[in-house]
Amino acid sequence: MKNNGKLAVLGSINVDHILNLEQFPQPGETLAGQQYQVAFGGKGANQAVAAGRSGADIAFIACIGNDDIGQRIRRQLADDGIDVAPVAAVNGESTGVALIFVNADGENSIGIFAGANAALTPEYLVQHHQVIADADILLMQLESPPETVLAAARIARQNQTRVILNPAPATVLSDELLSLVDIITPNETEAQILTGVAVTTDDDAAKAAAVLHEKGIGSVLITLGSRGVWLSEQGNGQHIPGFRVKAIDTIAAGDTFNGALSTALLEKKTITESVHFARAAAAIAVTRRGAQPSVPWRQEIDRFLLTRG
Ligand code: ATP
Ligand code: RIB
Repeated sequence: MKNNGKLAVLGSINVDHILNLEQFPQPGETLAGQQYQVAFGGKGANQAVAAGRSGADIAFIACIGNDDIGQRIRRQLADDGIDVAPVAAVNGESTGVALIFVNADGENSIGIFAGANAALTPEYLVQHHQVIADADILLMQLESPPETVLAAARIARQNQTRVILNPAPATVLSDELLSLVDIITPNETEAQILTGVAVTTDDDAAKAAAVLHEKGIGSVLITLGSRGVWLSEQGNGQHIPGFRVKAIDTIAAGDTFNGALSTALLEKKTITESVHFARAAAAIAVTRRGAQPSVPWRQEIDRFLLTRG
């Protein structure tokens, strides 16, 4: 196991078009929104930003389109403390897009267009093999081609790089991929899709975690929205509650949690301490609108923990 404090994130970059409405439109219905925002997003980029702003030494492997907004995103990622050398502009592709409705309860509904994210192929990954090999931790999600996620996990395992997988958006995954994962962070829906166990109680969470341990994953963190996290290590489970805050928009709560979790683990905090740090970062994020605009910087997390911790 390495302990060089380096993080590699592999994942998506999107431009988020966010419309706030009282309620989600039904099929055939048109509703006027109260607020519209274009913000930088994508699960990979959000997690990279959360790691960068919270203090990680991080490189991001991703693709943007050969367009103006892609260049702006790349510059913003660099300003967020991220090594963007492995972020390529792909000719003939547009930067990924997410169309997001947010209702009055702060819940969201998202449609995505992959665009340049589809060009993050195993062939592209070959050029950046060393970024994964050198890292202590590789953090991934599932908005990238599945064959690339698997290839990256194989490179990580061959080089003793720990793999954190945030299995979002929800989908069924192969046993091979799961066997290469060290820490998995599904929300309740994703946990149910991966395990067949509907997660509503602590007992359910423990059962779902057991299924994932059986697949070879040492640490299972099931995120439970405002209720916090079920943390299970080799079958020893505990419920860690969420901080009480007034949530206005939960976009990127999970992403902020994963990025900050990675930072804390790289700083050699225990997994319980790392969850504590990550749930503080995510609690701050849900009090703000948008994906990357909501992600806190390290001083904000430290200050929150001093007053609320
Ligand atoms: P999203 O898709 O909205 O980004 P997610 O479904 O991947 O999020 P959640 O389980 O909703 O993930 O949230 C991740 C973490 O963020 C939770 O474990 C919790 O620590 C924190 N969190 C989420 N919602 C709230 C909230 N309303 N209040 C406080 N903390 C929250
Ligand atoms: O997790 C939130 C992200 O999901 C948004 O930023 C959007 O781009 C979608 O990918």
